[in-house]
Amino acid sequence: MEKQRGPIAVFDSGFGGLTILKDIVKAMPQYDYIYLGDNARTPYGTRSFETVYDFTLQAVKQMFKMGSPLVILACNTASAKALRSIQVRDLPTIDATRRVLGVIRPTVEAIGNLTKTGKVGVLGTTGTIQSQTYPLEVKKLFPDVEVFGQECPMFVPLVENSEYNSPGADYFVKKYIDALMAQSPDIDTVILGCTHYPVLEDKIRVALPEGVNLILQGELVAESLKDYLARHPEMEERCTKGGERVYLTTDSVEKFENTAKIFMSDKVAANKIMIE
Ligand code: DGL
Repeated sequence: MEKQRGPIAVFDSGFGGLTILKDIVKAMPQYDYIYLGDNARTPYGTRSFETVYDFTLQAVKQMFKMGSPLVILACNTASAKALRSIQVRDLPTIDATRRVLGVIRPTVEAIGNLTKTGKVGVLGTTGTIQSQTYPLEVKKLFPDVEVFGQECPMFVPLVENSEYNSPGADYFVKKYIDALMAQSPDIDTVILGCTHYPVLEDKIRVALPEGVNLILQGELVAESLKDYLARHPEMEERCTKGGERVYLTTDSVEKFENTAKIFMSDKVAANKIMIE
């Protein structure tokens, strides 16, 4: 049976994954891409394991149906709560030749070389932090590095509702950064462990103590994907090239197109899609 060829798919619960897509496209503009934002059901960060898994699996199946051989979960919450089950349990029965990759592993691989104190902070959704995925993954690669997690449940609503420049955003950024640094004053590296948070980058930099490194995931994920495709020529050949980009949302097209401008410099045209 001939293996299906198609675009690389990038999925997020909403707009956040556009911060990852932007860097992936910058590094590899030659491929075709589909972006799917499940805006109608965002946020995922406060939902149970089962719900995040169900929604993510539905999205993956939809992107497979559209021909994609390779799906990137550009969402830490979905990567933390659904990726492993999909890889181990679902892929072998759906189509063992396709791949689903996440954003946590490429981020973790980079951090061991960045911290000098061995104390790393992670800002993430309630789901990502409570899953303990970051400390567990870091332990496997860098046993001496200690991870301090801070839930930031107000960040995604601020971003999804275009309130990221408001005084309310200043208030919550300071509150969460203070709470993180109170866990250990020796934290010297902080990971933005949610793809929505780069929109708050400037405010987060102001709130962090001087000298603390702030790590954004986009370039790390893009580099890791490039490396993956170089090491897997059979997958690389299945990713179609033509520079086409398709944007899909499960909610209002108008809202998607207006808000996407914040994340992408190009104007995007979106289509609505139902997933179930
Ligand atoms: N952007 C997603 C992440 O990286 C989560 C946002 C949400 O809560 O839906 O975790």
